[in-house]
Amino acid sequence: MIETRDLWFAYSNNTVLKGVNFRAQKGEVTILLGKNGAGKSTLLMHLNGLLKPLKGEVWVDGAKVRYDKQSLMELRRKVGFVFQNPDDQIIAPTVWQDVAFGPKNLGIEDDRIVEEALKAVGLEGYENRLCNGLSGGEKKRVAIAGVLAMKPEYIIMDEPTAGLDGVGLKSMVELVEKLRREGKTLIISTHDLDFATEIGDKFVMLSDGRIVYEGDSIDYSLAEECGIRLGIFGRRRELVVIPHTSPIPELHPDFVAVMGRNARQKLEDEGLEADILTASLERSILRAISGNTVLLVCSQEMLDVVRREALNFPIKLRIVDGVDGVLKEGDDKVGGEATWSSYSSQQ
Ligand SMILES: Nc1ncnc2c1ncn2[C@@H]1O[C@H](COP(=O)(O)OP(=O)(O)OP(=O)(O)O)[C@@H](O)[C@H]1O
Ligand SMILES: [Mg+2]
Repeated sequence: MIETRDLWFAYSNNTVLKGVNFRAQKGEVTILLGKNGAGKSTLLMHLNGLLKPLKGEVWVDGAKVRYDKQSLMELRRKVGFVFQNPDDQIIAPTVWQDVAFGPKNLGIEDDRIVEEALKAVGLEGYENRLCNGLSGGEKKRVAIAGVLAMKPEYIIMDEPTAGLDGVGLKSMVELVEKLRREGKTLIISTHDLDFATEIGDKFVMLSDGRIVYEGDSIDYSLAEECGIRLGIFGRRRELVVIPHTSPIPELHPDFVAVMGRNARQKLEDEGLEADILTASLERSILRAISGNTVLLVCSQEMLDVVRREALNFPIKLRIVDGVDGVLKEGDDKVGGEATWSSYSSQQ
């Protein structure tokens, strides 16, 4: 376990961490959320001794972190850190040299370690490429490979999905899951709701240098406040639900989801393809919270379940009348426009 005890830190007279008691359990993926400037990077940099507390302590596996050279070296071998900006991390000219640099520093020269690390991030074939000529996403992966090559028990990643495209995001999820299966402990800061919910075991929200939430799931009433990217610029956050007995409405959803065999059959009959086939209700709600319009086709019997669940979230819910297929605007009964404030006041 890594923990901080009453951790305070300031950059000159700007106090950034104000008594933080952070905890990340071994074998888990802990997600750190918070607005730009909340202090996430500053907190993370304390966890492997890149920053020294102004006041308070950092503990790793039951031992208090000490700041002499030898202790710091041991700490950094155990706790790897992937910087928010890969340019802060990449130091060697070529990809191979960069990934080999860390282990070499520890006195390990083993080509297999470098090969394995490059494979883990999908950069086989990049060995001789110049780091300077790589795209942002590729640089990010080199930086991660460099950390993996040191075989740390704990891996800290500061916004690993920033600047990644859809494919990159998916492989990042796969990489995190693989590392977790291998027994690594991960501590990850992100603004990405999809990513966070996909991989997180524990969620910690930081606001103005203090922990304001800690739990097994994201507190949606706090999420926007904590800088989670939710439908910005007035996007719609709309979930449209129809039973499989209704005609498909004229709509241009960002995602189509199905729940149940009847619904699947219905979509097939209409020659449509679903984007979301499993964990459909949860995923539909998440996509809607993130600002998308989602069409969810479910069986007639599931309508009530869907309605009840969706009502708990800050999204606009529209349910199609099962009899005549008319798309009804939500009224109070079917959720209506649940705003952040109305959601919070329901709590
Ligand atoms: N090296 C520095 N010198 C002075 N102030 C700094 C330095 N690094 C960060 N700060 C300030 O400390 C505060 C917290 O910054 P930090 O980078 O920890 O936030 P963050 O939560 O990681 O934000 P982001 O989401 O933008 O990455 C900010 O007000 C920032 O301007
Ligand atoms: Mg940061």
